[in-house]
Amino acid sequence: MVAEIIDGTRIAEQMRAEMRAKIAELKSRGITPGLATVLVGDDSASKSYVGMKGKACVEMGMFSVGERLPEQATEEDLLRVIERLNEDPRIHGILVQLPLPKHIDESRVIYAVSPEKDVDGLHPVNVGRMISGEPGFVPCTPRGIQELLIRSGHNPEGKHVVIVGRSNLVGKPLANILIQKKKGANATVTVCHTGTKDIAKHTRAADIIVAAAGRLNMITADMVREGAVVIDVGTNRVDDLTAKRGYRLVGDVDFEAVRQKAGAISPVPGGVGPMTITLLLANTIEAAARTVR
Ligand code: GUN
Repeated sequence: MVAEIIDGTRIAEQMRAEMRAKIAELKSRGITPGLATVLVGDDSASKSYVGMKGKACVEMGMFSVGERLPEQATEEDLLRVIERLNEDPRIHGILVQLPLPKHIDESRVIYAVSPEKDVDGLHPVNVGRMISGEPGFVPCTPRGIQELLIRSGHNPEGKHVVIVGRSNLVGKPLANILIQKKKGANATVTVCHTGTKDIAKHTRAADIIVAAAGRLNMITADMVREGAVVIDVGTNRVDDLTAKRGYRLVGDVDFEAVRQKAGAISPVPGGVGPMTITLLLANTIEAAARTVR
């Protein structure tokens, strides 16, 4: 079997077309959804992600502000910026790009963002709402993965989903989203991590594998059941002198080998990445809409 390619770029574009109508409706009521991205330091991967998020906002006709602080900025400097953005009525969503420099306490920063503007879904209030199945903001990458599965015809309902990776940004929230007794969820979920004894034993039993370990070639063909759906969340940079930037992006899945066995597979780039950005925009539009409900 050669896998169907799950085209995240196409599905993200389809969602964005739907979102344009919501933006137009809000604008007719005098509200332009606004997103602030905050970046501390100049890590090149983070700079690139934040740049893509700002650009996507502008393309959608949304308001966008990019706050940039130097690597040496103090925690207090950063908290002051967040406080100002919390108060700014033009801003409906705030995203502090992670990871932060080591001298800054990430959880203090996450707590500082107003839960009503926390479009990243990382504030403990939103994490609690997500676990309880109450409305709130849910992290963009896992919501994007859920939407990618549903819209590509691989609804996770009743399926066994095996997630490899337990990060706060992807693995843990995705498990919580997919076990909800709701449409587009209702899956049986297994989470594998560095403490799991035999990861392949679990992935071979999966209908859907989500690779979110942050390790190149972590998922090999022998770990995949014939016909399984494979979602690759990895964004590993690999040196490539033939590429314009001197590197290319590669996922956590041994793509060429796994695509010969899987039923469907999301590529890197062009799979989960465009969905993450789209869900960030969707959360920002929702945050703006809540200010007039
Ligand atoms: N760094 C990598 N992914 C993310 C994300 O989804 N949100 C934030 N804030 N930082 C990230």
